[in-house]
This record gives sequence, structure tokens and C-alpha cells, in this order.
Amino acid sequence: MLLLNLVLSAVAAAALPTPESSEGNQSQPFSQNGLAPWNAGAVNRFPIHSSCNSTQRRQIELGLNETITLAEHAKSHILRWSNESAIYKKYFGDSPTMEAIGAYDIVVNGDKKDILFRCDNPDGNCWAGHWRGTNATDETVICDLSYETRRSLSTMCGLGYTVSDSETNTFWAADLLHRLYHVPAIGQNWIDHFADGYEEVIDQAKKNATLATHDSETLQYFALEAYAYDISAPGIGCPGVQHEHESHDEATTTAESTPTATTADKPSSTQDVPANCHTHEGGELHCT
Ligand SMILES: *[C@@H]1O[C@H](CO)[C@@H](O)[C@H](O)[C@H]1NC(C)=O
Ligand SMILES: *[C@@H]1O[C@H](CO)[C@@H](O)[C@H](O)[C@H]1NC(C)=O
Ligand SMILES: *[C@@H]1O[C@H](CO)[C@@H](O)[C@H](O)[C@H]1NC(C)=O
Ligand SMILES: *[C@@H]1O[C@H](CO)[C@@H](O)[C@H](O)[C@H]1NC(C)=O
Ligand SMILES: *[C@@H]1O[C@H](CO)[C@@H](O)[C@H](O)[C@H]1NC(C)=O
Ligand SMILES: *[C@@H]1O[C@H](CO)[C@@H](O)[C@H](O)[C@H]1NC(C)=O
Ligand SMILES: [Zn+2]
Repeated sequence: MLLLNLVLSAVAAAALPTPESSEGNQSQPFSQNGLAPWNAGAVNRFPIHSSCNSTQRRQIELGLNETITLAEHAKSHILRWSNESAIYKKYFGDSPTMEAIGAYDIVVNGDKKDILFRCDNPDGNCWAGHWRGTNATDETVICDLSYETRRSLSTMCGLGYTVSDSETNTFWAADLLHRLYHVPAIGQNWIDHFADGYEEVIDQAKKNATLATHDSETLQYFALEAYAYDISAPGIGCPGVQHEHESHDEATTTAESTPTATTADKPSSTQDVPANCHTHEGGELHCT
């Protein structure tokens, strides 16, 4: 047996290219031919302008890091559960999953060369922050109010926050996700505002699901709810009051005033499930 192994490895070795072959030294693939790596010059961190002082820079950077954390988890949740996730269905209806996966992935892994965050109020209209639009389409301004009000994702489900009843920009992570979707390098003029606010987002998933996977608000709400339910308060989350909801033009009178919890939107997490686990729709057990 030993002899056979030796013979076989000698045969295998003979079939390998020599170090001097055109394949180069595979453990140092770019050292011999002098070409730059295919991705030379990639920008992997969000550029922050010199107008941001050290405390501003640090807070924006921390916020952007949390944006990546939020988007990365949203992508992972969809990749794991696909459209069997009750949270996926709630926000994206019957849409295929690839568009939303891509919308999160581009934030995490897309090149960040054509993006700039700045702090010097160049348009003279600072409030919390804004995308500079036609003034400078790659640029986003962050203003003082952001540093005072935006929260870390670590406070998710605390301090009275619920997904349905709080603003998405409660957190740096979702606020900056929204701002990034306005920048063409990320949103590609494809992610846009179709629905405004939680109720419209929920309606849109039922009535206009093809818009949902490139709707800026929907992508924020889904990411927040998935993070709350999977990470912050596993198996519980903080979805807030769920309305059995009809579209605004049909039923403006009754639907809003009857906050009956919908079983479809509620993960069934209580019976016979270990404390660190929860069931997803379809009966899948998910343990953390
Ligand atoms: C490939 O490069 C590495 C790092 O310089 C070196 O240690 C190794 O010996 C090289 N291999 C060959 C087959 O030349
Ligand atoms: C950065 O700028 C802000 C707003 O002008 C200011 O409050 C803060 O003290 C500055 N930080 C440093 C380290 O200069
Ligand atoms: C943000 O993330 C990068 C990459 O992981 C890290 O090097 C950097 O220190 C982080 N910044 C802050 C302010 O936490
Ligand atoms: C979920 O996705 C599968 C394909 O993976 C599809 O056959 C099914 O119709 C989808 N279900 C819903 C409710 O969208
Ligand atoms: C563009 O700049 C002008 C002032 O030069 C300002 O009035 C306008 O609000 C700016 N646009 C945005 C989107 O900030
Ligand atoms: C669906 O999309 C159309 C076209 O954008 C829009 O007019 C309509 O209000 C949307 N309906 C819902 C319930 O979102
Ligand atoms: Zn916007």
C-alpha cells in the first residue's frame, strides 16, 4: 500500500507543471509575470472626505460598518431561508429572491470608488444629511443632527424601538443604507422609492411585489426585521403592531383602526421549541 502510494504520488508530481511553466508559482500567482492582480485598485472601504474631523469620521465609519453588518445579515437570511421565510414574504411577497440578495450584496462587496461621504455642508442646506443629487451625484453629506440622533444596531429592540412603529433611520445602519441606495454606484438608478413608510411597504409586498425587491424602504425594513428577529432578540424580534391591512384606496376607514395581529406575519416561536431556537414557516427549526 505504501509503495502504491509512492508510485501514485510520483505519477501525480510528474503531471504537475514545473515552477517555471507559464502557469507561474501558484502560491504566489502574480509574482512572476509582472501583471497586476485583476482587482488591483479595488476600493473596499467607503471613502470619507477630509472635511470630516476625527470624531465625525469615526462615527460615520462605525455607522457604515453597521450598514455592512445589516446588509450582510439580510443577504444571509434570504440565502438560508429563501421565500420560506415569513419575514421575506412579509416584505417581498412572491418575488424571486435574487434581486434583493444582489441589492444587499452590492453594499457589502461592491466597489466603493464612486462614493463619498462629506461633512462640510457644501450645499448650505444641512439638516440630518442628504444625497447631493445633481449637485454631485456620488456624494452624500452628513450633518450634525445625525451624530446626535442615530443609534447603534446594538440598541435594536431596546429604547422603545419596534420595526413597524419606529423610523428606519433610528439606526445609522439603515439610515446610511438608504443614503447609499441613492448613490448610482450602489442603487444604479434602479433602487428607488416606490412605497413610503411601513404600511405602504406591507401593501406593496402583496400588490406590487415586483417593485418590492428594488424599493429602498422595503430593503431597509426587511433588513431591520431580519436582524431583530435573528440577532438582537433571537426568535422574538421586535416587529411591533401588525395590522391586517388593506390598500389605502380601498379601505381608509376600518383597516387602520383594527390592529388584529396576523398569524401569517408572526413567527410561531412559542410551543415545544428550545429557548435558542425558533421555527420558520414551513416548520423549519432554526437554532442560534
Ligand atoms: C512559490 O513561492 C513561494 C513564496 O515565495 C515559495 O516559498 C515557494 O517555494 C515557491 N514555489 C515554487 C515551486 O517555486
Ligand atoms: C468635529 O466637529 C464637530 C462639529 O463641528 C465638533 O462638535 C467636534 O468637537 C469636532 N471634533 C474634533 C475632534 O475636532
Ligand atoms: C470598520 O471596519 C473596518 C474593517 O473591518 C475596521 O478596520 C475599522 O476599524 C472599523 N471602523 C470602526 C470605526 O469601527
Ligand atoms: C418560492 O420559490 C419557489 C421557487 O424556489 C417557487 O416555486 C414558489 O412559488 C415560491 N413561493 C412563493 C410563495 O412565492
Ligand atoms: C444643490 O445646491 C443648491 C445650492 O447651490 C441647493 O439649493 C440645492 O438644495 C442642492 N441640492 C441638493 C439635493 O442638496
Ligand atoms: C403599485 O404600483 C403602481 C405603479 O407604480 C402604483 O401606481 C400603485 O399605487 C402601487 N400599488 C401599491 C398597493 O403599492
Ligand atoms: Zn431616499
